[in-house]
Amino acid sequence: MKPCVAVTRRLPEVVETELAQDFDVRLNSPDITFEPSRLAALLYEADGILCTVTDRFDGSMLSAGSLRTKILANFGVGYDNIETEAARAAGLVVTNTPDVLTEDTADLAVALMLAVARRVGEGERMVRSGEWHGWGPTQLLGTRVHGKTLGIVGLGRIGHAVARRAAVGFHMRILCHTRHPPDRETLDSLGAEYCADLDDLLARSDFVSVHTPATPETRHLIDSRRFATMRQSAFLINTARGDIVDERALIEALSTRQISGAGLDVYEQEPSIARGLLELDNVVLLPHLGSATVQSRVAMGRRATENLRAFFAGRPPPDLIT
Ligand code: DGY
Repeated sequence: MKPCVAVTRRLPEVVETELAQDFDVRLNSPDITFEPSRLAALLYEADGILCTVTDRFDGSMLSAGSLRTKILANFGVGYDNIETEAARAAGLVVTNTPDVLTEDTADLAVALMLAVARRVGEGERMVRSGEWHGWGPTQLLGTRVHGKTLGIVGLGRIGHAVARRAAVGFHMRILCHTRHPPDRETLDSLGAEYCADLDDLLARSDFVSVHTPATPETRHLIDSRRFATMRQSAFLINTARGDIVDERALIEALSTRQISGAGLDVYEQEPSIARGLLELDNVVLLPHLGSATVQSRVAMGRRATENLRAFFAGRPPPDLIT
């Protein structure tokens, strides 16, 4: 008998086909996000669950007892949607899908950096609304990206890939802040400087790009006090997780021009977006597209499938979190 695997969201067709070769799959073809009660029920119905960032498995669900599910194979590198300590305590294995989405997510961070600095969103809205009446020497003047200073908060795989693009492609000076200082070789390869103090990085950066994982320690890491340390000409980019940035403080900083602008792919209360953000012109808003390429999403699906295969074959899953 094949293990029963519930897949919480529609995946690229090739991934669903491959999953069905090894598992008795329960697909979500309508792709409607499951309510918490449905997710809780799945824990009693399936041997494994292939879940995504939109599925929150919290402690109360995971500690309910006598669960059938033995593995949560998360489709994504971030796994803050799962209370991993509770999963471990309940004897569940949790896996993620690192590496395969690094380059595409880094591309999107750079896209946001360019979009907000060069006012791409405003320009697009102007054209579509019929408000563009021709070229003008002072129209929609933005800020040069080339040669500026980029502060990277969290120099993991994605942060590193963004720093590489910025250093090589845009000749930017790279500052970075991480919990543990990177080794000399990593810093030298990027021509980067390590800032032990995040405030120091914020005060010296023209662009700040957030790439740290979402944990209780990083919640509201960038708050009103930290916005006050940033340059008035600076831009904040967030492609990591919404709650790393205090969104209320961000709206305040953007509307009072305490900072110049922001490019966001993630939000505190996804998918709802604070009205204050929607009303501002100096912020570019994307719908969590970081890994949204065919290539990344197929690779993420295959990586999650491989984790499930290994687990049910009695081997350690390659991307074991807990
Ligand atoms: C990730 O991989 O963490 C993306 O944000 C989608 O979950």
